[in-house]
Amino acid sequence: MLGERPAAPVASDMTSAPRPVSSIPLPPSVRIAEGRGGLPCLVVASPLARAEIYFQGAHVAAWHPAGVRDPVLWLSARSHFAPGKPIRGGVPICFPWFGPHPENAAAPAHGFARLREWTLIEALEDEAGTVRLALELAGEGLSPDWPHRFRAVHRIEIGSRLRMALEVRNDGTDPFTFEEALHTYFDVADIRTVSLTGLERGEYLDKLAGGRQSREGNDPIRFTAETDRVYLDTQAACTIDDPDRRRTITVSKSGSDATVVWNPWIAKAHAMPDFGDDEWTGMLCVETGNVNVHARTLAAGATHIMAAMLEVKDRGD
Ligand code: BG6
Repeated sequence: MLGERPAAPVASDMTSAPRPVSSIPLPPSVRIAEGRGGLPCLVVASPLARAEIYFQGAHVAAWHPAGVRDPVLWLSARSHFAPGKPIRGGVPICFPWFGPHPENAAAPAHGFARLREWTLIEALEDEAGTVRLALELAGEGLSPDWPHRFRAVHRIEIGSRLRMALEVRNDGTDPFTFEEALHTYFDVADIRTVSLTGLERGEYLDKLAGGRQSREGNDPIRFTAETDRVYLDTQAACTIDDPDRRRTITVSKSGSDATVVWNPWIAKAHAMPDFGDDEWTGMLCVETGNVNVHARTLAAGATHIMAAMLEVKDRGD
């Protein structure tokens, strides 16, 4: 059975902010707070869910639907919370490239969007307690490695389900190409006991074998070693079955043709400074994306929307 929700996120009220981070009026269930490392964040505490969203990266760091006992989103106890450093856990936005930049090894991995401060442009709440936030990152030449003029809006709907939609518009005069991912870290009891359905028989690129193309078997995926795969041409919903937690988490999506599945296992976890040595057992990334051959090209003035919806269900055993 699903139990009571855990304690609130750690953010405390922001009383001495150096500068206002937003002038948007906030609905009753939303406040701005000083989050971990002093980074400003939005804290949502509604009858339906609690959540913590950092302005840096428009990063959903926590989402606890009411009545769910264990965290749904995994967050490393070793994560950086510092200006310009990626947060390890929650839902980083990878944009406008995924992984290393193809030409510049010195450019930040997974693009610049997760390192920049986004602007709150909308905060609404309906009668049922569903909160809708929208954060924007826009400009031209934000990175020499991707100098285009664009506007990205991340729309986050926080309720008994979590919906995130990343909207990218080309504000320039020429087409541009980008990759994107909602790099969602899920909290699981033990990666060695969970299974993942939705990608059976799918073609994938195995990043641990130099990008070799392989085909998934007929069975749900189980994890017995480091895993880093880009599943191609898939629009399917994926479900994490977590028998120890007696729950499933489903990620359904739209506007996305790739799904990335990642767990670093032992050696890679040890090698990452912002990842606890033993934390790999408790997480699984299932990432909604358009990456690699599914990079998108947008004509001048065009908009693309990619969305992911998360839902937790009691397994009923
Ligand atoms: C995954 C990639 O999406 O993100 C992995 O497929 C990568 O190759 C992982 O290691 C974590 O990336 P980062 O930049 O957050 O350490």
